Amino acid sequence: MVDPLFLHRLLHPADTPSDPSPAGEQPAAETQPLDGTQAATKQRVSVFREAHFNAAHRLHRPDWSPERNEAVFGLCNNPNWHGHNYKLIVRVTGTIDPETGYVIDLKVLKDIIAEQVTDRYDHKNLNEDLPEFAQLNPTAENIAVMAWQRLRKGLDAAGHSGLGLHLRLYETPRNFVEYPAAK
Ligand code: NI
Repeated sequence: MVDPLFLHRLLHPADTPSDPSPAGEQPAAETQPLDGTQAATKQRVSVFREAHFNAAHRLHRPDWSPERNEAVFGLCNNPNWHGHNYKLIVRVTGTIDPETGYVIDLKVLKDIIAEQVTDRYDHKNLNEDLPEFAQLNPTAENIAVMAWQRLRKGLDAAGHSGLGLHLRLYETPRNFVEYPAAK
């Protein structure tokens, strides 16, 4: 066993021996609070906005038999449609703007989500009303990818091309997907 205090002194020779902070809890050098503004604005922070939409869909492949469609897609293959209460969690990541203190103004993000996703999808039949699902089954996976592409376009158009974007989409409280996927 290596003596933890010995290791700590080795890593932090400037510390006094009585410094009780373990090495792992030292903040990174750039976060040392020389001045509040400098310390905060260098940090990357994720901000989140939750949105909802209710929509109908059907998962179906016309090139498959009815039996195979039902076996693979189950209740989501119902010929007369059915709905889900979708919950979308949008995560935007970037550095803090030194003037506003925001990564992104959440009002701006709210409007982009509405314009690009929820106003288009809410109370719609995804298969019939949305051109992106005319030939693409509206699974949660495919909805997440389509929503991400539209939100990316909206963020870029608003001057936020430098911000990272990640989505979590709930089709039910227990079934949800994330895009981009975890590595
Ligand atoms: Ni379904």
